[in-house]
Amino acid sequence: MTPISCSPWDVKPQLEALHRNLLREIAGIDRIAAALYDPKTDALKTFVHSTDGESPLAHYDALLEDVPSLGELARERRPRVIDDLSVFAGSVHEHSRRLLELGYRSSYTVPFYDNGILAGFLFFDSRSPALFTTSVVEKLRVYGQLIALILLHGLTSLRTLGAAVRVASRVTHERDPETGAHLDRMSRYARLIARRLSGSGGFTDEFVEYLFLFSPLHDIGKVAIPDRILLKKGRLDDEEFELMKTHVLKGTGIVDDILGELGLESFPNALVLRNVVLRHHEAIDGSGYPDGLLGNEIPIEARIVAVADVFDALTSVRPYKEAWSPGDAFGYLHDRAGAQFDRECVRALEAEAVAAEGIRLRFPDEGRWGRQSREGYTPDL
Ligand SMILES: [Fe+2]
Ligand SMILES: [Fe+2]
Repeated sequence: MTPISCSPWDVKPQLEALHRNLLREIAGIDRIAAALYDPKTDALKTFVHSTDGESPLAHYDALLEDVPSLGELARERRPRVIDDLSVFAGSVHEHSRRLLELGYRSSYTVPFYDNGILAGFLFFDSRSPALFTTSVVEKLRVYGQLIALILLHGLTSLRTLGAAVRVASRVTHERDPETGAHLDRMSRYARLIARRLSGSGGFTDEFVEYLFLFSPLHDIGKVAIPDRILLKKGRLDDEEFELMKTHVLKGTGIVDDILGELGLESFPNALVLRNVVLRHHEAIDGSGYPDGLLGNEIPIEARIVAVADVFDALTSVRPYKEAWSPGDAFGYLHDRAGAQFDRECVRALEAEAVAAEGIRLRFPDEGRWGRQSREGYTPDL
């Protein structure tokens, strides 16, 4: 077997290496995929896959209660073999339908657990009917356990970083006039945009989830901004604004410290986190900071976060302004699309207006600010 020596974060190459090894032993396994389960929300989400050819399913999530056949496997802690997927022709479930459309004929599904709690499912799929005989399933048992271990190991590391990120966010928000609900909303808007762009941008599910996890940290550098500027009620003068702008570089320093402390500098998605913090005030026309990057020079994660962040700032109450209607906020973004904001990201959020409204209503501010005039408001510091 080829040694697997990637970082615990880099789950996809590990899964692909395992898949290659597995194919030497069992020909015909065309796809291995994992979906993760979140017990808090009952959500099951595609996470990583190794697929020969087009993947039938990405950026897909469902509630486990809506997929009773998987729920049953999870409860009974048993795998399932389907010899002929065509019995699912006309199925209401997108998962089975997509598999069939792409020519898959048989499958083997295994639930896996973390400390006894359902953590997700592994799917082994084949274009050959009845591939998963007793002897094949016997061999797959070991592979299944190995993949589950790799995933759980990666998740533990992810949770460690997640905990560090949450502590850092809380510290930031001790002083930051923006509310915690702002972070809840803007990170979800960022996820909506990323998912919408997934088709054209070729983002992986992993990227989308990391972006969701990291986007609340965009302003972490504000901890290093003096109160007289951070908490100032009126407009900042030029000198104050220059100081405020340093929050992106200060934040990048803090992020590098966190990653260094956790030994995660080489974590492939660390760059996503760094870019979100460093680049969320760059503008498409080069008028942003800190470096005046142009268009596609600005990493996509930062272009997404810029739109999500400003949309939320506009649609919420701040000490110096009332909340704009979503329509007004979209108008503002639209007017500046192609200049300040990435056109595709603005379009993606507009296309998700209904979902965005759901998020806005689900995470209201805690009445921290009174209603004030929107006059003189400059939304993007
Ligand atoms: Fe910022
Ligand atoms: Fe923000």
